[in-house]
Amino acid sequence: MRVAKRAKLDVSASEMNGNLENGYPCQSRDEDETKASGGLSTQEIMELRTKHIGKACEVHFKDNPIKIAYARGQYMYDEQDNRYLDCINNVTHVGHCHPHVVKVCHEQMGTLNTNSRFLYDIIVKYAQRLASTFPPQLSQCHFACTGSEANDLALRIARQHTDAYDIITVDRAYHGHTTALIDISPYKYRKLGAKGKKDYIHVAPTPDPYRGMFQGEATPELGEKYALEVKKLIDQAHKDGRKIAAFISESMQGCGGQIVYPPNYLRDVYKYVREAGGVCIADEVQVGFGRVGKHFWAFESQGVVPDIVTLGKPIGNGHPLAVVVTTPELAESFAATGMSYFNTYGGNPVSCAVGNAVLDIIENENLQQHALELGDYLKEKLLQLQTKHRLIGEVRGMGLYIGVELVTDRTTRNQPQKRQEELFTRQKRSLF
Ligand SMILES: Cc1ncc(COP(=O)(O)O)c(C=O)c1O
Repeated sequence: MRVAKRAKLDVSASEMNGNLENGYPCQSRDEDETKASGGLSTQEIMELRTKHIGKACEVHFKDNPIKIAYARGQYMYDEQDNRYLDCINNVTHVGHCHPHVVKVCHEQMGTLNTNSRFLYDIIVKYAQRLASTFPPQLSQCHFACTGSEANDLALRIARQHTDAYDIITVDRAYHGHTTALIDISPYKYRKLGAKGKKDYIHVAPTPDPYRGMFQGEATPELGEKYALEVKKLIDQAHKDGRKIAAFISESMQGCGGQIVYPPNYLRDVYKYVREAGGVCIADEVQVGFGRVGKHFWAFESQGVVPDIVTLGKPIGNGHPLAVVVTTPELAESFAATGMSYFNTYGGNPVSCAVGNAVLDIIENENLQQHALELGDYLKEKLLQLQTKHRLIGEVRGMGLYIGVELVTDRTTRNQPQKRQEELFTRQKRSLF
């Protein structure tokens, strides 16, 4: 959302220039350093993209894309210093170019960057700190660089541990871009038509109280009804002679429409999956790190403890870092083949230092509480808008994980495809 011509950077001078009261020193940064300067025009970039960047790589606002020159906090700036409120970001959790992240990254880069086959402090200190945010049984970290890598690894661990191959996924899910993950991402593979769905993938209906197979108030009974659909899938798989390795889902569904599952859904699903010998994977790539306000991990909102949790996006505030956290038992099974897990960049000292700095900031700036308060405020305002605009069918979410469902008609709940695209563009042009 374009908000104003920039007069000056919006991060306060005290934050930029020195010692934050909340405990860590910040790098001094001169505003002049950050001014957009020269460079290629939007048109030149688009021409070069057409020539040298694969066509499948899309840009936002394709009819009139924005060149972003720099960013600070919640704002991004184009080459004319126009300021945009960054509402499309689920990565820079503690704000763009946070001085603490920049400083720690820079210092560690100038001290040591190597791989996890050597011993160094930060990987174990960070793993210990990260593990302390989970229930005690989730104590084993495996480092990677992207959410896709983390989910791919989670599938390998699950399959190795269970000696099974089949995966239950939730309709509309997106878990990443590798071959194995497209297979478990109906959000993507449905574009491939019939050949997209593999026989070792079982798709559970999205437990969506507004638009799903069963609609109504998000009661425990509704959650249990949706969970029974997973039980039916398991029973059918067994009848077909198949064996379930894992159930994977986000703890709240992201790309599939910001869906908050009804209570008891994951509780019952995890029970059915474990009874069938499978393990339960929670993808917290989008919803973790306090974003949902009440809880640090979104799975906590369902009262469950997964066997494997995958982390990405906000974990490094834009630095490529991801982690798979699991139990000693599963980590043991994974190691038992004798094939070591090595990832050239996963767990390198710079990434770990950045991850640790992100945790410093979440704690020192009380960001989980902030997500709760700001999220409640935003939801309240959106609900007020809903009373005025029939286009808003539902406002839902937890903390700063909020979805607004647009409908042409509140009874049929039909989605206005054209209006959504139009709104997206209007947001950019600040007409929203
Ligand atoms: C829920 C979820 N899991 C996994 C991924 C894949 O992460 P990455 O793009 O870092 O590979 C994404 C990315 O959008 C995601 O939203």
